[in-house]
Amino acid sequence: MTARLIDGKALSDTVKTEVSKRVLALKKQGITPGLAVVLVGDDPASQVYVRNKAAACDKAGLHSRVIRLAADTTEGELLDVVQELNADRSIHGILVQLPLPAHMNASLVIEAIAADKDVDGFHVSNAGLLMTGQPLFRPCTPYGIMKMLEAENVALRGAEAVIVGASNIVGKPMAMLLLAAGATVTLCNSKTRDLGAQTRRADVLVVATGKPGIVTGDMIKPGAVVIDVGINRCADGRLVGDVEFDSAKTVAGAITPVPGGVGPMTIAMLLVNTVEAAERRAAAIHI
Ligand code: GUN
Repeated sequence: MTARLIDGKALSDTVKTEVSKRVLALKKQGITPGLAVVLVGDDPASQVYVRNKAAACDKAGLHSRVIRLAADTTEGELLDVVQELNADRSIHGILVQLPLPAHMNASLVIEAIAADKDVDGFHVSNAGLLMTGQPLFRPCTPYGIMKMLEAENVALRGAEAVIVGASNIVGKPMAMLLLAAGATVTLCNSKTRDLGAQTRRADVLVVATGKPGIVTGDMIKPGAVVIDVGINRCADGRLVGDVEFDSAKTVAGAITPVPGGVGPMTIAMLLVNTVEAAERRAAAIHI
């Protein structure tokens, strides 16, 4: 058996076309959705991500503002920038690219972002809203994965969903969204004993660890839907996921490729969240 490929690039194009339509509708009301992306330091991967995010905004008709700060910027200076963006009416979404330099407290910086502009969905208030079933912003990667599962008509009610990786950015919010959709969720972490025993139960398997090849074909239930969030650069320059693709594709029913799977969806959902923020503000103005 060879797994069906889940084409995140194609689906992200569809999502972005929808975003462009919503942007046009907002522009008719005199509102251009605006996203500010703050990058501290010169981490090469972060630079690429930030450039891609700004380019996607411009293409979909959103206004984007990229603020690049030196690696030795103080936490206080960064907090001042965040406060300025919180007050800026032309900005509907604020994203501080992670990781931040080691001398900064990332939680403190994230909590300084106005919760109604927190398009990453990382603020404790947004994490709490998601956990209690009343999400405002859903974190972009798990939100994009839910869109992919929906587009693939994956039945989630009663399904066994196993997530490998319990980060605040992917694993934990993914668990909340799958739970809300009626799945029975297992959230594995780096201490999980016999990972394969967990993953082999999964009808839907989401892997987000940053460890290339942590999941191999023999750890997958035949016919399972496998979502690979990892993006790892090999010594030879190739990009690979956390799932060993060649062995996995002979067992899985459907699988996301790397690149071209989850990655493009994350950016598309950032645009969705920014448009949602702008629509919410527009609705509030009209009350
Ligand atoms: N670094 C890696 N992924 C993300 C993300 O989704 N948002 C932010 N802000 N930083 C990241």
